[in-house]
Amino acid sequence: MSHAEDHEGTRRDFLYYATAGAGVVTAGAAIWPLINQMNPSADVQALASIRVDVSGVEPGTQLTVKWRGKPVFIRRRTPEEIEAARNTPLEDLVDEDAENANKPGAPATDENRALTEDGEWLVMIGVCTHLGCVPLGDGSGDFGGWFCPCHGSHYDTAGRIRKGPAPRNLDIPVAAFVDETTIKLG
Ligand code: FES
Repeated sequence: MSHAEDHEGTRRDFLYYATAGAGVVTAGAAIWPLINQMNPSADVQALASIRVDVSGVEPGTQLTVKWRGKPVFIRRRTPEEIEAARNTPLEDLVDEDAENANKPGAPATDENRALTEDGEWLVMIGVCTHLGCVPLGDGSGDFGGWFCPCHGSHYDTAGRIRKGPAPRNLDIPVAAFVDETTIKLG
């Protein structure tokens, strides 16, 4: 083989590999969105935190949003609901832990569960702590808060379990007001 042929052979090899390489890249680009969609952790990461506009929520009503695959209750409580929750002695509670991710280990006073100091806003995961049903809101149950008809769990106006088989208060997720009308979850 002459020096010139040798050179050409090398060049042809190079072209071959370059083309093959481009083919691999193209296939990779086509496959990636599928892999990405099938990867649950990517989904979860995308929803790690959301912002909710609560400007339209009137006192005495509740907005339910879906976050990380679960319903989240955002309630703007009336003064009567706040008073009822704040006048409840801790000894009357089934679960004395606030179950509040923003205040780990804190006692289940209404002040430790409400999102705001004045108690007007209450944010909770809307999943019954018994077997995971979604409780009914709008003053339901014997304690004027939420009621899970599946097996009869009654939650008070702070979302604390008061009667029935559920063992724990409704969980409170990491949440905060980021401006006057926006709550960030996560
Ligand atoms: S799931 Fe709520 S009471 Fe059983």
